[in-house]
Amino acid sequence: MSQKSNTDLHWNSRAISESDGAKVNIADTVQRDLELQYIFNHLSPSMRLLEVGCGNGYVTDQLRARVAHVDAFDYAENMVSRGKEVYGETNNRFFVDSVLDPKNARGPYDAALCVRVLINLRDLSEQIRSIRNIHNLLKPGGVLILIEGYKEGFAAISDFRQKIGIEPLKPAAINYYSGLSELMPTIQELFAVADTFHTGLFDFLTRIILPAVAGPGQASGPGQFHAQIEPVVRAYDGREFAQYARLHGFVLTKR
Ligand SMILES: C[S@@+](CC[C@H](N)C(=O)[O-])C[C@H]1O[C@@H](n2cnc3c(N)ncnc32)[C@H](O)[C@@H]1O
Repeated sequence: MSQKSNTDLHWNSRAISESDGAKVNIADTVQRDLELQYIFNHLSPSMRLLEVGCGNGYVTDQLRARVAHVDAFDYAENMVSRGKEVYGETNNRFFVDSVLDPKNARGPYDAALCVRVLINLRDLSEQIRSIRNIHNLLKPGGVLILIEGYKEGFAAISDFRQKIGIEPLKPAAINYYSGLSELMPTIQELFAVADTFHTGLFDFLTRIILPAVAGPGQASGPGQFHAQIEPVVRAYDGREFAQYARLHGFVLTKR
């Protein structure tokens, strides 16, 4: 495996520094639950699932209750240890591996899940390589549920914020965001798009309306506002807000 990046080191430490298991992989649990609502709708009980970048196993635990088996891996050793310790291995396996060069996966799988993992890689070429690696681990017709962040949504939010006098939205320094338009040719070469998801309405509300109403310093969330809008964003797909989505999700079928 190649040398660890600062982002890799960040995740390995976070596995130890954050005590709340729900917040190890993402502080915003409302966003996380929105993602999970979408993911769970696309799982079936007979699936053998590969979870790429499983973090501390908080999601693995919920996945294994919904499918036949989960092979869950992460590049951060401390994440994998914490997953084994807290959740154990039942109809799942936790192991250390890198999506850039997976060696310990036992494919082919019926399905794979990759959520906010590619944004932790160094650049577009590593992201493309990872999508190819996941594709190779799937059965013909296998499904990839891919949810990642892309720079177009950040730009649209920042443009809107500028119009109302709020500073641009800065992505976290540990992340690398490609354009969706840059990854889409690879996605379409390897997969057929079966379904889509985005966080546009959630992002418009939390990154534009909340700072406009409460002031930018008050809008770091997740707080009361996130909890109040949760039923709204769960009930409506917010299609008019797709351009403001920081995250886009796809259910992809291997060609
Ligand atoms: C933002 S967390 C997301 C975790 C999980 N997918 C979730 O939805 O909660 C990103 C995770 O990706 C892992 N990761 C980063 N680079 C990786 C790589 N090359 N191979 C496997 N996992 C990686 C990190 O260690 C971290 O646990």
